[in-house]
Amino acid sequence: MTAATAPGPQARAAVVCGVGAALPSAVVSNADLTARLDTTDEWIRSRTGIAQRHIAGVDLSTEDLAVQAATQALAGSTPVAVEALVVATTTPDRCCPATAPAVASRLGLTGIPAYDLAAGCTGFLYALATASGLITAGTAQAVLVIGADRLACLPDPEDRTTVPLFGDGAGAMVLRGGSVGEDGALGPVVLGSDGTLADLIRASHPGTLHMEGAEVFRNAVERMSAASLKAARAVGWDVEDLDRLVPHQANARITGFVARQLGVPYDRQLTNVEHVGNTGAASIPLLLAQATADGRLKARHRVLLTAFGAGLTWGATTLTWPDLP
Ligand code: UT7
Repeated sequence: MTAATAPGPQARAAVVCGVGAALPSAVVSNADLTARLDTTDEWIRSRTGIAQRHIAGVDLSTEDLAVQAATQALAGSTPVAVEALVVATTTPDRCCPATAPAVASRLGLTGIPAYDLAAGCTGFLYALATASGLITAGTAQAVLVIGADRLACLPDPEDRTTVPLFGDGAGAMVLRGGSVGEDGALGPVVLGSDGTLADLIRASHPGTLHMEGAEVFRNAVERMSAASLKAARAVGWDVEDLDRLVPHQANARITGFVARQLGVPYDRQLTNVEHVGNTGAASIPLLLAQATADGRLKARHRVLLTAFGAGLTWGATTLTWPDLP
């Protein structure tokens, strides 16, 4: 069930050279939710750590968010010729065609291979593994990876157990060909899935999300902790070597349990869930972009990324953060 993508024989690696993010401007606070749902700010904060989330209106699509995040990532990247584009999303604007070709064309990249990938909230890590494979195989010199989701459309608007959890957003990362061992080079990407537990988080269309919260919680902690240890060991790191743990921002209790289980101190965890909620495939790149911009993430920090989501799916990888322009 678990696969690790090891570096190619020439020790070629996918190297991070730019990150970007996008959030809708509209914010829904816990106070806004208490006005229409049988809930309290105290319940939401204490169970999830979430205080507010950004919500896209009808005029802002998943594609729009993806383009915005990608534009920022490309603007802040070392110059590269992007030769492939992957969009990880659970909430594309339509079933067919995929989001990625339209995003590529809006970025002036018509003609390159561009495709979507769905792996729930683990989608960004699955997309990183794909990008790493494209680069190490020599298929593309540089790849643009985007995680974009409008998860806030999935819950029944009357369901107090799921509405508070989700927000909308996008994050993007530019990767280029480079060498194992240089700053920014992705380590092996540990991935896994368990379809026997598919019913724990499911939605057939907007407004129909079903989630068995306690079971999801238990699996999230167990899977992210195990994948993190495996990814760290694959590059010879002990937990003490980590400078920054970047877990998928499902909620603060889940990420806190993962950190505790791994033994990562509080000041080495990056988080933004209080301000954005669970943004699905956007979660990790959004947090990386924000933490790079505000200085919580610095060049040469040893970083561990881990995620968990519907599927069930999970994953983890490592990198030493590069000195971005
Ligand atoms: O990428 C993974 C995405 N999924 C997640 O992040 C969710 C993982 N699960 C969780 O984080 C937690 O299970 C939740 C935050 C969803 C729920 O927390 P919990 O501690 O597992 O609560 P619960 O579902 O066991 O519910 C406890 C009580 C229930 O009332 P009773 O039956 O004890 O009277 C619920 O009806 O809390 C009630 N409740 C609420 N009360 C006020 C549920 N939602 C709310 C609410 N406000 N919003």
